[in-house]
Amino acid sequence: MSKILVVDDERGIRESLDIFLSDEGHAIDTASNGREALLLLKQHQYDLVLTDVRMPDMNGIVLMKEIKEKMHQPIPVIIITAYGTIQSAVVAVKEGASDFILKPFEIERLREAVNKALENEREKLEYKLFQQEGKNRYLNLMNQQLDRTVFELAILHEIGKTINSTLEINKIVSIILEMARQSVVADKAQLFLYNYDKPGLALTISYSTEEAGQTQKNDSLDQDAIDWAIWKGEPLLLEDVNQHGSLKIKTEVASDLGALLIIPFKRKSRILGAMLLANRAGGRIFTQEDMQFSITLANQAAIAIENAQLYAELQDHFADTIRALISAVEAKDAYTYGHSDRVTRYTMMIANQMGLSQVELRRLEYLSLLHDIGKIGIEEKILRKSSTLSEEEWSVIKNHSVLGASIVEPIKFLEEGQKTIRHHHEWYDGSGYPDGLRENNIPLYSRIIAVADAFDAMTSIRPYRDSLGTQSALNELRCCSGTQFDPMVVEQFMTAYGG
Ligand SMILES: [Fe+2]
Repeated sequence: MSKILVVDDERGIRESLDIFLSDEGHAIDTASNGREALLLLKQHQYDLVLTDVRMPDMNGIVLMKEIKEKMHQPIPVIIITAYGTIQSAVVAVKEGASDFILKPFEIERLREAVNKALENEREKLEYKLFQQEGKNRYLNLMNQQLDRTVFELAILHEIGKTINSTLEINKIVSIILEMARQSVVADKAQLFLYNYDKPGLALTISYSTEEAGQTQKNDSLDQDAIDWAIWKGEPLLLEDVNQHGSLKIKTEVASDLGALLIIPFKRKSRILGAMLLANRAGGRIFTQEDMQFSITLANQAAIAIENAQLYAELQDHFADTIRALISAVEAKDAYTYGHSDRVTRYTMMIANQMGLSQVELRRLEYLSLLHDIGKIGIEEKILRKSSTLSEEEWSVIKNHSVLGASIVEPIKFLEEGQKTIRHHHEWYDGSGYPDGLRENNIPLYSRIIAVADAFDAMTSIRPYRDSLGTQSALNELRCCSGTQFDPMVVEQFMTAYGG
């Protein structure tokens, strides 16, 4: 139902239009002149105005102009006049009339003009809404893309920070994988690294929505698809693995999986691994945008993993070099052969028990291997002497911790290395050497090495005595806890050793 205003100074015309248009299903108001019409237009909302041209005070053309200028919403106007000519029709249309009807009007012509004007208005309104809707949709889309870009940048920033802060492969891959899973909203995410010792891909880390952060064995799930992607050297995006027969994915696996995204990654044509993202059957399908972003993440992973692998290799070489150096020291005294390795083993037991980080463990491993490196500068005859040492000889021996500290000083990445080695013979009660430090003033690493060192010394054979035996050595540690040794470190060693 449309609301129509009929404006005519002739009462008979007003009434007959009212009757006819009401019968057509419209709601009608009438006005006998322009002013009355403008008043009604201010009070009500009309879909159409039918106006006579010749009226006292204000003619229909002026009224139409007022309507066009003053109304917030455009209202179609049909001009009705008994004095119409072609010229006045042209003027009316020029001024914006929807139609022009001559009196006496034919019912059919009137019906057609009213319906057409209302229809046009409806279409205009719909088009406007459509345009507005289109704009809204476009804005929504742009907003979604913006959100996505901000999210992706935040993830890349986070990954960049992680990569710069650590060289631990496990930490890097787990963060990259979890970020990838979140960003493409996957049910399952796995990262496979190429194992060059035993050629093939090995599952390194696996996340799923059910078992977050679980590292699993490679159960060869999805292996065919991964092999395919690696073989092609290209990312693989499947909307539905069950409809991709050529991959021959195992039935029991395929039945659970829906969409699949596999991104192989390599550096300088060397395959490093592949990232797999999957959703369960009937779940979300991955998009090209998901694939593009996953490729970016995989490239980041490739750089980080390669760096970490190179660093690990470098560390292994460094460890080998240290061991060679230690062998040179231990060769001076057959009784201390293997001492540094054993001290390192006990040190690692304590450090693991204390929950030190991977980086700290590695550092402490090197430092415990190197703790007696200062003995390299001490004459063999003093080191091998089985009889009681003179005071002078004893002070030469004691100087090995100071000598060792100066040897490791240039090794920049062994932070705290110099202090650790200098103070590994300090006593918890302050009666050790070289500086008589006490309690927590002694570096933690030195306190740990001190316990490991003493335990090995007691359980090894010396030229002047037999081994004390494990139990006596453990008792001795307990006995000297709080005087020679840090009680906390002794406690940790006891727990780790099971003593
Ligand atoms: Fe020592």
